[in-house]
Amino acid sequence: MVSVSLLVVVAAFAGCVRGWGADGHRTVGFIAMEFLTPKTLAFVQNSLGTEFNRSLGTAATWADDVKNEQAFLWSKNLHFVDAEDDPMDGSCSVHELRDCGNQICILAAIANYTTRLVDKSLPATETQIALKFIGELYLLRDISQPLHVEAVAAGGNGITVTCAGKKTNLHAIWDTNMLELNLDAQFGGSVQSYVNSLVSRIQDDDFSEPVSQWLSCTSTTEPFTVVDPSKRALHTTARHPDVARDVRAATITPLACPLVWARESNGFDCTTVFTFRNGTDVCNTGNYLTSAIPVIDLQLARSGLRLATWLNELLDP
Ligand SMILES: *[C@@H]1O[C@H](CO)[C@@H](O)[C@H](O)[C@H]1NC(C)=O
Ligand SMILES: *[C@@H]1O[C@H](CO)[C@@H](O)[C@H](O)[C@H]1NC(C)=O
Ligand SMILES: *[C@@H]1O[C@H](CO)[C@@H](O)[C@H](O)[C@H]1NC(C)=O
Ligand SMILES: [Zn+2]
Repeated sequence: MVSVSLLVVVAAFAGCVRGWGADGHRTVGFIAMEFLTPKTLAFVQNSLGTEFNRSLGTAATWADDVKNEQAFLWSKNLHFVDAEDDPMDGSCSVHELRDCGNQICILAAIANYTTRLVDKSLPATETQIALKFIGELYLLRDISQPLHVEAVAAGGNGITVTCAGKKTNLHAIWDTNMLELNLDAQFGGSVQSYVNSLVSRIQDDDFSEPVSQWLSCTSTTEPFTVVDPSKRALHTTARHPDVARDVRAATITPLACPLVWARESNGFDCTTVFTFRNGTDVCNTGNYLTSAIPVIDLQLARSGLRLATWLNELLDP
């Protein structure tokens, strides 16, 4: 009997551990729930059902959870866009064709699942998948994480840094470590307290820029430009040579807003992310962590409100 209860404890703990790194996603999902219209909220709750406690916050890690499963391996490369810019030399940029010419990236994925969410010809299971991808993944955390919009060293995965005495990498500290340190230091480790704080700050317009500015791009249909398919190049990156394919077959019309958000996010690679000093503990020395936390707060709050607005536009126009 002892071993059985131990197993239960281990299983419960494993559930928590998997959540490490997922708090950013959850935060955005829970923020979004606060800004849905009644009609959108009803749609979301109904589509997600009890499996996800009818909440975008609870479902927020689904896309990360499944990406290593056989059936969803293909979705791995949809969590980011490899912006082939030069942030270490102060040059940041995202180009739809250069960086997502093959349409296997977060920009095309947002466009794809935005269309699919409201495609009435699709079965409910596909609608739910679209909702989880849009909500739980793309709009949420990933496109707002500067290193998910960066090609250098596979989005910083290949850059070793020390954070609070732990040897890790630049990508991981932006996904996870710095947020967790801040949660522990300021919010008693509680995602819900953090969410409450960000929701209040959104309502009080208490950020470094007016909250209304976050919603300057909200069209769920406006294409970023008219794309001439013959001008697309065969696209491959050092990071994902396997995803090269003939992009002239590309079928998704890229949207304007995701590119705006990607560029905004990518801008932080130049101003903040790559300013760490090599050889220092980036989470102890104060300066780097201190400049990173407001960026993390801003990006998570923005994503939450934008996600809600996006879903409201789609589901309760
Ligand atoms: C499910 O949601 C309800 C209210 O929406 C909340 O009170 C409850 O704590 C949630 N349960 C879990 C397991 O998250
Ligand atoms: C769009 O979504 C569907 C369903 O998940 C997927 O099969 C298809 O490959 C996606 N298309 C693109 C271009 O990502
Ligand atoms: C950081 O320093 C180590 C050795 O001290 C070196 O191997 C590594 O290339 C440096 N990284 C960067 C990004 O400069
Ligand atoms: Zn990541």
